[in-house]
Amino acid sequence: MIGVLVSGEGSNLQALLDAGLPVSAVASSRARARALERAAGAGVPALAFPLEDFVDRAQRDATMANWLQEHGVRLVVCAGYMHLLTTVFLERFPDRIVNVHPSLLPQFPGARAIDDALAAGVETTGVTVHLVDEGLDTGPVVRQEPVPVEPRETLLERIHAVEHRLLPEVVGELCAR
Ligand code: GRF
Repeated sequence: MIGVLVSGEGSNLQALLDAGLPVSAVASSRARARALERAAGAGVPALAFPLEDFVDRAQRDATMANWLQEHGVRLVVCAGYMHLLTTVFLERFPDRIVNVHPSLLPQFPGARAIDDALAAGVETTGVTVHLVDEGLDTGPVVRQEPVPVEPRETLLERIHAVEHRLLPEVVGELCAR
């Protein structure tokens, strides 16, 4: 069973749902996120865990981990989840948390990866699926696919198209393990 962490639009969550993967719970860092509507639309239990409802990040992460485990989650997918995960969460799902990131890591970590690639003037950027650790987009790479920067007008949509294919593919393989 898969738990998906989200913060916003949820197009990668949608790709996982459309691929028929066994998503059993969706947790959001924000109460108002299109991703929560997508989960509800698919009949998947979804809940927001906004930081301001908790004493600190560790308490939020412990509560979120409990909720996911109550829903049978054994693999966690960060799909546009905009917070770092604390040790308390990572220890609950050892080597079973992946993230999708819109660059060829270790190039361009962080929330502005596509803009950073454009600003750096590289010819090729891409998509990475990697295991999550305490760092900002630093865990071991599971799969990468390059995407040419030009034509830059369509870069965003081409990156998203690769994400929406690559993420369900990798997650499907991890589920089978
Ligand atoms: C994706 O580009 C993902 O790589 C990045 O944030 C974006 C989330 O998009 N981490 P969505 O919420 O899945 O539509």
